[in-house]
Amino acid sequence: MDYSLFFKQSLEEIKQNGNYREFAHIKREVGQLPKAKIFRNNQWSDITIWCSNDYLGMGHNNQVIKAFNHAASESGTGAGGTRNISGNNHYHIELEKELSSWYKKDSALLFTSGYVANLTALATLGSKLPNCVILSDELNHNSMIAGIKYSKAEKIIFKHNDLSDLEEKLRTQPINRPKIVAFESVYSMSADIAPIKEICELAKKYNALTYLDEVHAVGMYGTTGSGVAEKVNCLDMVDVIQGTLGKAIGVIGGYITAKSELVDFIRSFGQGFIFTTSLPPAIAAAATTSIRILKESSNLRIKHQQNASYLKSLLKKNNISYIDEASHIVPVMIGDSVLCKQTSDMLLDTYGIYVQPINYPTVAKGTERLRFTPSPYHTKEDMDYLISAIKATLNEYKIAS
Ligand SMILES: Cc1ncc(COP(=O)(O)O)c(C=O)c1O
Repeated sequence: MDYSLFFKQSLEEIKQNGNYREFAHIKREVGQLPKAKIFRNNQWSDITIWCSNDYLGMGHNNQVIKAFNHAASESGTGAGGTRNISGNNHYHIELEKELSSWYKKDSALLFTSGYVANLTALATLGSKLPNCVILSDELNHNSMIAGIKYSKAEKIIFKHNDLSDLEEKLRTQPINRPKIVAFESVYSMSADIAPIKEICELAKKYNALTYLDEVHAVGMYGTTGSGVAEKVNCLDMVDVIQGTLGKAIGVIGGYITAKSELVDFIRSFGQGFIFTTSLPPAIAAAATTSIRILKESSNLRIKHQQNASYLKSLLKKNNISYIDEASHIVPVMIGDSVLCKQTSDMLLDTYGIYVQPINYPTVAKGTERLRFTPSPYHTKEDMDYLISAIKATLNEYKIAS
């Protein structure tokens, strides 16, 4: 086997069909959001970021940075071990308490990322519950798909957010067979929101556990910001809530929260929890501070939603087609991978607008899109400018809007 040839040919193939990923070389500067600098064509230039998942800018919040610095000076940089072997720090414990009380659950458990949380929790539940079957929304994130696959449990895919399809599939299963319904609240690429309450009611009717990924809602929905389940007042109906500290919380890490016996079970059997170094204590301290700020005030959440609505109203007024859903995410459909890359390049090179093209395998082929994430820090002028840039770019590439 000519290994190098194989790697090169595989890369050439994705380059040809527009799916080769080029990372933007960015420098974010505290106090400047959503402005940043990009290194391109051998020089630094100014850009406005339009695709960050630091949705509320908490990664640049001064109190969060202060908490991070304080804990790092006190406890050092790394945790020094797994949670079991010397890596269980005061800041981890404090953060887990903060998380479980945020979701009104007994316990919470930290992981090194949201991805690892999904992978580990679903793999553990699916493999340990005897003869378990997992019903998974067809648009679930790769981390859930990976967890289900790793569990080797039977998987049944139900149509996206489709209650009757879910019920039909639940009905075929013996009532006493262990079942998990795995789904998300805010779907980050299609921007829509799951009917959480109704899914939980169905799950209960058929004796299934519910597993909800709130990754794109954490910090942004509900009176204290824990997510959509809080907003629709059904925290107590969801068995396992999973989330990330890497998006609106502004740091990195993931978690699950649930009844104490379930959390203790994942803590005791979950390989992606047991066999890895725990999060740096300073990260945990920064996350706790960020959550406390977001719990205390809804100001950022309100401004965030206002900006998302304003951007959508501008798109509508200018007849630019986008996916109009209830969340803060604003996808503008392009429908072709090469065009998606070209439009994103033109927005960057001509207008200083940074929006990463979203291509396969993140979304299905033919549904390529530009995914805009307005923050509370984008001004009306930023949004007006964005619209004129999108219009000109779509015209240039003759993309019907
Ligand atoms: C729905 C969903 N779940 C989980 C994850 C993984 O979270 P993290 O970035 O913390 O690994 C992502 C990441 O984008 C996601 O979109």
